[in-house]
Amino acid sequence: MDSHIEIHPGLTTNAAPFIEQAKRDGQLYISQPYELYSEENHEAWRKLYARMLPRWERYANEHYLRGIRSLCLDPDHIPRLEDVNRFLRPLTGFQAKAVSGYIPSFLFFDCLRNREFPTTITIRRSDRLDYLPEPDIFHDIAGHVPMHTDKHFAETLVRFGECAHTAVDLVSGIRDQETRVHCLTCIVKAMARFFWFTIEFGLMQGRNGLKVYGSGLLSSYGEISHAVEAAEVQRYPIRLEWAINQAFEIDHYQPLLFIVDSFDHLFTLVDLLEKWMRAGKLNNVAPGEPNVNEQDLKSFLEAGAAGR
Ligand SMILES: [Fe+2]
Repeated sequence: MDSHIEIHPGLTTNAAPFIEQAKRDGQLYISQPYELYSEENHEAWRKLYARMLPRWERYANEHYLRGIRSLCLDPDHIPRLEDVNRFLRPLTGFQAKAVSGYIPSFLFFDCLRNREFPTTITIRRSDRLDYLPEPDIFHDIAGHVPMHTDKHFAETLVRFGECAHTAVDLVSGIRDQETRVHCLTCIVKAMARFFWFTIEFGLMQGRNGLKVYGSGLLSSYGEISHAVEAAEVQRYPIRLEWAINQAFEIDHYQPLLFIVDSFDHLFTLVDLLEKWMRAGKLNNVAPGEPNVNEQDLKSFLEAGAAGR
């Protein structure tokens, strides 16, 4: 038994045989084999949680702080998704859904529409705690899921999912293949940018000053304070036309962040995003990051072909 524990490789980012096998089998949605977590995996969670706690109290918005309390996360052990969902589901209907890794764009947004959040189950190495560009369970569960306990925020995510369906409907009406791919690429880029500058890296102006609600910030020990305090960061009230045309890079602290007033405000912007999409305003956004890959495009085009 002990020797089994010593040799099992755990569920460490980019080093988990369970995940590699699921990918080889083409399984996007998986279970969370909780017994596979190694002591080192739990140690990584423990260290991440302990060092973030005072930063959350200082920089996170009130909805997040209320949310993380209501999920009753264990500071010492990686959470079981079923436990998280037991607390989360009654609040907004959202659930964390285990995935093997990258989910093509349409499928990701479609999950949100169904109030399911694709959740990575691996965790970074305990000796490399700092921000990594790919998500892990700390980013997804401690960074994203507490926000999903908020009704207005949850509705905003669902609205993003509906936008993806609108995109499918719109582009399936374009006959010319080249034009269809061009428009779809721009629409997906615009959605990805808007998601990035809000759900991942958003700031909110509140009664107690500027606070963080973006999950990329909420799961980053270094960047959460940098985002709020560093003099060189450009922070502006959000403008939809700016965010959808603004390229971003994922491998360093963000030099430009956008501020919303409330989640109602954010919801109205996602509404507007859909209106602009229908009007054709997203068909030619500025080139640049993020790259929209083949799998992303295919996921939308296949949804269109399947009549979803
Ligand atoms: Fe994220």
